Amino acid sequence: MCNDEPRRRRIALAVLGLMTILFAALSVLSFVGPRKQAVPQEVSFDQYSAVDGKRVFQAYNCMGCHTIVGNGAYFGPDLTDLYRRTGPAWLAAFLPSAGAWPTAAAIRVQLQNPAIAAAAGTDSFDAYLERYPAARERIERRGGRSTFMPNLPFTRDEIGQLIGFLKYTSEMNTEGWPPTPLPAARAAAAVGAVGAPAVAAAPAPTATTNSSAAPTSALATTPAGATTGAAAGAPDPAAQGAKLVQDLGCLACHATDTQRKVGPGWGGLYGSQSKLADGSTVTADDAYLEESIVHPDARIASGFAAGVMPSYETLTTHEQRQAIVAYIRSLARK
Ligand code: HEC
Ligand code: HEC
Repeated sequence: MCNDEPRRRRIALAVLGLMTILFAALSVLSFVGPRKQAVPQEVSFDQYSAVDGKRVFQAYNCMGCHTIVGNGAYFGPDLTDLYRRTGPAWLAAFLPSAGAWPTAAAIRVQLQNPAIAAAAGTDSFDAYLERYPAARERIERRGGRSTFMPNLPFTRDEIGQLIGFLKYTSEMNTEGWPPTPLPAARAAAAVGAVGAPAVAAAPAPTATTNSSAAPTSALATTPAGATTGAAAGAPDPAAQGAKLVQDLGCLACHATDTQRKVGPGWGGLYGSQSKLADGSTVTADDAYLEESIVHPDARIASGFAAGVMPSYETLTTHEQRQAIVAYIRSLARK
């Protein structure tokens, strides 16, 4: 019995030694690179880093309403892989637009920005929709309609940084999160199967009606020229302008009364003395309004940031801009 002890001691020491080696090896491994996991330090969009975007995301408390990889609140949709599905142009159009969901024209105008086109891998609108089907789905279903997302006063840089951050979360390996939602019908059937009260299943038919009643016009918006084709039969430029600002997505940022959205309200603007950021004033006449559409950064309205409104120079013709000015003029008397 007692001459067995040295042997047991040797076994115990050997096991202990093995464990020590294993512990040391695993410790070293834990310092080795992130095993193909994306890290924010290495992801950027245009000149903006995902790390800065994370700070913006926190500063505006986006987590108070949205989730990312399961963390946060469920008031707004999960944003984890939104960049991958909707692409940079859609996000650049959506983020600063407090009033309405982006229209086709709002995406086209973003694709004119070389940094966005480069990140998207195309500057063609049709190719973009091919590549980012969720952008197409959003334009068709909701383009031009009002949004519940609050009006957050982003600067141009903050928008770029947020896109960088959402690009990073899209590149994370999330092991399949977020899960794909069940199609409405199957979900309703599943609810029915567990014997839930009839009310629980009631919203499903509404959802189906909504999607089938979606407007087909949102995607049909064509670039400059096509919309004015009807000029011969449409003598009222203000009415034409009203349709243009809807299609172009201007109303996502501008109210037709004096209310402030992302940009100044248009009510009473025409002919007024408009205050500029440099302290001077300008008469809001035809020339100034047209300039505001073509070169939004040439003169900045007081209290607003430069670089948020895109230029509509190539997306509109001179006649279309005149029609828009006529429409803004018609809002002057209200
Ligand atoms: C007060 C709540 C709230 C806050 C704060 C908020 N959001 Fe939202 N957001 C929403 C809601 C609600 C929607 C859905 C809007 C709708 O359906 O009309 C939304 C929609 C979105 C969408 C579109 C999602 C999609 O699937 O189409 C993006 C992108 C987004 N928010 C980004 C952000 C970012 C980035 C921040 C922080 C800078 C932020 N949100 C802060 C409530 C919020
Ligand atoms: C993404 C938001 C956004 C969109 C979309 C947008 N704008 Fe603007 N707009 C602004 C901001 C912000 C300002 C104020 C800063 C400036 O003067 O550039 C502004 C300024 C203006 C002004 C000058 C107002 C004043 O009081 O001096 C006019 C006119 C104008 N926009 C027209 C338009 C038209 C027309 C469209 C659509 C073709 C449009 N905007 C689309 C954000 C937007």
